[in-house]
Amino acid sequence: MRHLMSPLDFSVEELDALFDLANDIEFHPKKYANACADKILATCFYEPSTRTRLSFESAMLRLGGKVLGFSDAGSSSASKGESVSDTIRVISSYADICAMRHPKEGAPMVAAAKSLIPVINAGDGGHQHPTQTLTDLLTIRSLKGRMNNFTIGLCGDLKFGRTVHSLIDALVRYENINFIFISPPELRIPDYIIDELKAKDIPFKEVISLDEVMPELDLLYMTRVQRERFFNEEDYVRLKDFYILKKAQMDHAKPDCLILHPLPRVNEISVEVDDDPRAVYFKQGQYGVYVRMALILTLLNIKVD
Ligand code: CP
Repeated sequence: MRHLMSPLDFSVEELDALFDLANDIEFHPKKYANACADKILATCFYEPSTRTRLSFESAMLRLGGKVLGFSDAGSSSASKGESVSDTIRVISSYADICAMRHPKEGAPMVAAAKSLIPVINAGDGGHQHPTQTLTDLLTIRSLKGRMNNFTIGLCGDLKFGRTVHSLIDALVRYENINFIFISPPELRIPDYIIDELKAKDIPFKEVISLDEVMPELDLLYMTRVQRERFFNEEDYVRLKDFYILKKAQMDHAKPDCLILHPLPRVNEISVEVDDDPRAVYFKQGQYGVYVRMALILTLLNIKVD
């Protein structure tokens, strides 16, 4: 039995196979419409979500399976003090696979250790969000046609943004990726990531100004400031609008620079940018369904001819 806790749980070759499957699902959805006819997905979400929970549910329904779960810790027995270990033992009797989001770093790993079914980390605190990374990588591969030789700018809350941490982990395995970290000093990328990049001799730089680096970028990954992880509201209010990507700045971007964002967006990309063909964040959401369909099939070891 296999879980997904980090994007590194899959080798580069396994990721390629997963993305090939996701692309096949995209173009031949009918072939997969009954692949999970006798399977149930549990979505155990202890923290709010729109995309991750609903795209998992959509993925399982599109595979012909069924879904059950909760979307709020307050409506589960966690509110009575039940541990994730006990919860997953019980859920193992109700479902065949589980996607779990939790505000505490490591909680899905604790659940996986006691689970009788595959557990997928759907986001744990400020730590990792591996299925968002699968979504991001599939989007890049599908729209850029390659997974190497590019400069990527990661902009916004690089301290608390778990999607950023997971994406960097995954991208360092590909060739000739140059990272530019764009953030206010208070929301810098954590030192442990900088240390890893230095140890692997991966090129990177840290800047405050987005305008300064815009012409260099092949990909710009915007992120929101993570209000829920701040210790005080004052700091959040001071930093929340530090970056707002506007149409005028897009004039300085490369003609084929893709703008990605895991969403939800708050204010960091002006809606006037949405019509720019380089803005692919809504398309990214679509890829999220295909890749989660591929992931469910892979973890349940279901092959479709
Ligand atoms: N990208 C993402 O994780 O969105 P949700 O929080 O809506 O699931």
